[in-house]
Amino acid sequence: MTAQDFIPKPYSKTINKGSVTWSSPSNIALVKYWGKREPQLPENPSISFTLNNCKTITTLSYSKKDNDGGFSFDVFLDGEQKDAFKPKIETFFKRTETYVPFLKDYHFKIETQNTFPHSSGIASSASGMSALALCLMSLERSLNENKMTDAFFNEKASFLARLGSGSACRSLEGPLVVWGAHQEIDGSSDLFGVKYPFEVHDNFSNYQDVILLVDKGQKQVSSTVGHNLMHDHPFAQERFKQAHRNMSALKTVLKQGDLEAFIKIVESEALSLHAMMMTSMPYFILMKPNTLEIINKIWSYRAETNSKICFTLDAGANVHVLFPENESSQVLEFINTELVAYCENGNYLCDQIGFGAQLINNE
Ligand code: PMV
Repeated sequence: MTAQDFIPKPYSKTINKGSVTWSSPSNIALVKYWGKREPQLPENPSISFTLNNCKTITTLSYSKKDNDGGFSFDVFLDGEQKDAFKPKIETFFKRTETYVPFLKDYHFKIETQNTFPHSSGIASSASGMSALALCLMSLERSLNENKMTDAFFNEKASFLARLGSGSACRSLEGPLVVWGAHQEIDGSSDLFGVKYPFEVHDNFSNYQDVILLVDKGQKQVSSTVGHNLMHDHPFAQERFKQAHRNMSALKTVLKQGDLEAFIKIVESEALSLHAMMMTSMPYFILMKPNTLEIINKIWSYRAETNSKICFTLDAGANVHVLFPENESSQVLEFINTELVAYCENGNYLCDQIGFGAQLINNE
């Protein structure tokens, strides 16, 4: 597949208006994507668990307008007009227009809501951009009189989501999605996410992710800026090689269900990601003192109990606590007695591995 393959032939049907609703989840990377090149292509492959509970539900209503050369849309979050979201969506439309050439033929009303609190410090870009990309693909499918395979639908929706926000391309399917070409992963591509194609041990079914909300504020450095700082980064090439190696190692770990080896890869990936931030020029730190307190508590708990709990981080201060389902009650007790104190207002979110986006309505 090349990007050209996503440029459609003229549509066979005219549609004046309609609306479609998709729900799409967030995801948490095990091997991290950090560093990109134009147009939003990853410098290394990554793999993530799709989440189940943290998701965005988006309704796209469309009505035909004259193509006057401009985009026309309104955005609502939880029923309230949200003009602050418009520039990001305008950029997304500009980037994707070649592939969904109907964008200027309609006025769009985009109504969106998240199942997690907006000010939780959890990025809604992965779930939000994937939900919007899926809505556009449903419209394209209708314009093609439904002549489109599910495989193509998913690939192209992921391709569009990627152009909105890189990691969004890993949110459409589950439970594990790979994005970025890797020699040992059949079908993997820089252009879109693909479902992890190999066997996964039962140890990973219903894997749990409790997200400890350490800092709900706005990040000081956006991930766009962080990715770009990898361009002149002294350790960039080594980091990209490390990600390739970790992908290979994880393949064996996922097959064999080796939780100890899993922990080593996942925690090392989280700390390597943050090490890249600390060694960029300019350098920056997104972890907070409580992030480190939590990491140390997790390490002590693991040493004392032989639990298979581990942590990962995204580009922020919050901590994702990962553990097998059969440890749920003990780990939740540990979180409630020892970790909530480090969360802003004691807040955390319970999630687990999920299976991707869902079509809610199409009329
Ligand atoms: O998709 P972006 O541009 O917000 O980048 C996300 C990067 C990380 O969350 C830090 C890692 C990842 O692979 O999701």
